Amino acid sequence: MPILTYELGTRTTPNDRSTTGARDGYVAAIIKQDSDLRPAQVYSELAANRLAQFLGLPVAVGVAVQSRRTTDSLRFASLKAAESGLDYYDFTDHDASFDDDGDDGIVPGMHVESGHVSALQRVCQRFPLETAQIAVFDLWIGNDDRPGNLKAELSEDSFGAIFAMDQGASLLSCTDRRPLALELLRSADFPRFHAFQKLVASLYCGEMIERITAIPDWAMYAAMTFDDNVGSVTIAEQYEVCEILKDRRRFLRELVERVLL
Ligand SMILES: Nc1ncnc2c1ncn2[C@@H]1O[C@H](COP(=O)(O)OP(=O)(O)OP(=O)(O)O)[C@@H](O)[C@H]1O
Ligand SMILES: [Mg+2]
Repeated sequence: MPILTYELGTRTTPNDRSTTGARDGYVAAIIKQDSDLRPAQVYSELAANRLAQFLGLPVAVGVAVQSRRTTDSLRFASLKAAESGLDYYDFTDHDASFDDDGDDGIVPGMHVESGHVSALQRVCQRFPLETAQIAVFDLWIGNDDRPGNLKAELSEDSFGAIFAMDQGASLLSCTDRRPLALELLRSADFPRFHAFQKLVASLYCGEMIERITAIPDWAMYAAMTFDDNVGSVTIAEQYEVCEILKDRRRFLRELVERVLL
């Protein structure tokens, strides 16, 4: 897959201890925190991001961050993709959502509620493997917030860059109330829709299900559990949601067939 690069600040200074000419600098990021709307956003972004990296998905990398003021709570930094020189279609642009000529027609059953209708069809044609991978992953982690959280080069002669971002509405953050989030995650009926539904190929979805099913337990724990609270999410809750995700694999195929195919 094309390498996804991130935006480096213009000013860097020599690192005193480096023997190879390394420099100190800053990388741009979108910084996210827990809120009433998304009380477990930091944990959910972090855990989903680590799972996505393990699975080799084209998702913007994110890390836990803390400012030098040690009283500051943990936040999540989604590293800002370097977009200059690339011709990304911006699914995150609300204004463009309904500015759609619909020339390509509508595939029966596809997701039309968030607009970008012909762009959704084009992205799934241009990137059949990546979109299938992202869609299956989203169903697994309980993320129905994919419309509006993707950027991709759509023209056939482009370099072919695509990346997903913002898994802040997944896992324990799939709704604003913790008990309900756990209940939804335990349910084989959730999520009920996906931005790429009816636009992805069953072969690629099947391959992704296999990949998710094959994740070893150690990798699940490494991605999803930590030695400390993450924002408002306790260690016990981290293990609880990890067990639920392990279990969700039992009905992932059925969920994919119902929602995506
Ligand atoms: N890693 C990234 N690289 C480039 N742009 C990004 C990245 N992460 C976020 N953005 C941009 O910043 C916007 C806000 O980020 P994000 O979607 O994570 O926030 P949010 O509060 O969850 O927003 P919403 O709820 O509207 O989706 C995105 O819609 C996108 O345009
Ligand atoms: Mg978003």
